[in-house]
Parts: sequence; C-alpha cells; structure tokens
Amino acid sequence: MSFLEQALEAIRRTKPRNVVFFTGAGVSAESGIPTFRGAGGLWRNFRAEDLATPAAFARDPELVLEWYEWRRGLIRAAEPNAAHQAIARMADAVVVTQNVDGLHARAGSRNVIELHGNIFRERPSGAHMRPDVVWFGEMPYGMDDIFAALREADLFVSIGTSGAVYPAAGFVQAAAANGARTLELNLVPSEGTRWFHEARHGRAGELVPGWVDELLA
Ligand code: OAD
Repeated sequence: MSFLEQALEAIRRTKPRNVVFFTGAGVSAESGIPTFRGAGGLWRNFRAEDLATPAAFARDPELVLEWYEWRRGLIRAAEPNAAHQAIARMADAVVVTQNVDGLHARAGSRNVIELHGNIFRERPSGAHMRPDVVWFGEMPYGMDDIFAALREADLFVSIGTSGAVYPAAGFVQAAAANGARTLELNLVPSEGTRWFHEARHGRAGELVPGWVDELLA
C-alpha cells in the first residue's frame, strides 16, 4: 500500500460508520419551541406533576388536554432549524429523540426513535383519548431498539439535552461501554457532561451544521 493509500485508509478507519444522535428539547429551541428546564423552560411556569403524569390526567383531563393542544399549536407554527437539517444530512444515522415534536422527521431524518412518543398521535386512556406521549412514571418507547443501536454505535452525539431524565441520561455510558466515542453538543455543560469524551458548548443551530460538515468532509 502506498503512503497515500495508507493515509486514506487511516481516515476511512477513523470515520464513524454507525452514528447515534440523541436529542432533547435544546435541538428545537431555535425553532421557537420552549425547553423544559433553564431560562424560559416549561417547568419554570408549569408543574410537571399537574400536567405530565397519569395521575394528573386522571384528576383533570381537560387541563392536561388543553396544555397539550397549546403545545401542538406552537409546534405546528414551527419549522425544523439548521440543527435538525444537519442531522438529516447524516442519512444513515439513528436519531433517538426525547422530543415529541416530530421535527426530525420533518427535516428528513429517516431512522428516528421517539422515546417519549409524539404529540400529534393519540391513544385511548379510560374514557378519554390522550396524547401518545410518555409521562413521568411511564415506560419510554423503543428501548430495545435504542440499546441495539447503542451496541452498534461507534459515535454517540448528544444534542440539546440537560441529561436530567433517566433512563435516557444513561445512554452515553451504555454507548461508551460498547466502545463508541461520545460527544456532547449543548448550550451549557449538561448534568452528565463528565461522561462524554468530548464536549462543545453553544447553540445547536450553529454547532451542529459545522460539526456535520467536518464529519462529512
Ligand atoms: P431540558 O429542557 O431538560 O434541557 C434542554 C437542554 O438544551 C438544556 O441543557 C439547555 O441548556 C439546552 N439548550 C437550550 N437551548 C439550546 C440551543 N439553542 N442549542 C443547544 N442546546 C440548547 O430538555 P430535555 O433534556 O429534552 O419529558 O428534557 C428531557 C425530558 O424532560 C423531556 O423529554 C420531558 C422533560 O420533562 C417528559 O415530559 C416526560
């Protein structure tokens, strides 16, 4: 093998083949959708236990449905931003998202696992239809598929999540234990930032496109 061939092979070898993105509310913040924690976050103005638990829905279904309808309105008016679009350029990546807004699919990502469901779907619950989202105390969707993707991953990139909610906050450790490189792209260091090999801090709409350019170059 010539020197040039060896150099190209080295680059190919270091290129990740199985990329798993793991996203949270921060990836949709620049689309105008509020996050949960931090400045302007939904949990600053609303109590999760009044709105996002099975007990809250049993107690006051109208209040819960009204809150979700308000959030649907915000999401309908929103568009995918530069971060969603950059993620979609990695056509073979698996996108595991805690977001219920469907913006990754709207940006063109094909392999999306919505572990907290989707706000535009409904399912029956007792006498009422309820949003098909995962509330506190309920089982997330897609865990088998997520852990299968984490086993295969050679690069795990977390974007716009506070790392406050388990089991999702443990995905970085599972990916690293299986040999993946791990990268955090977030406005500020997340609660789990120490678990990542590398972290870059800033707005997703700026960080993610630049980073995808580097990767695809
Ligand atoms: P959080 O609101 O907890 O965290 C959002 C993260 O995004 C924070 O670390 C912010 O610093 C960061 N962020 C904000 N704007 C950003 C930007 N423009 N670019 C990059 N990062 C930005 O949202 P999640 O981590 O998604 O669950 O929250 C996880 C779960 O907790 C949600 O799915 C929801 C919530 O309670 C349920 O409702 C069950």
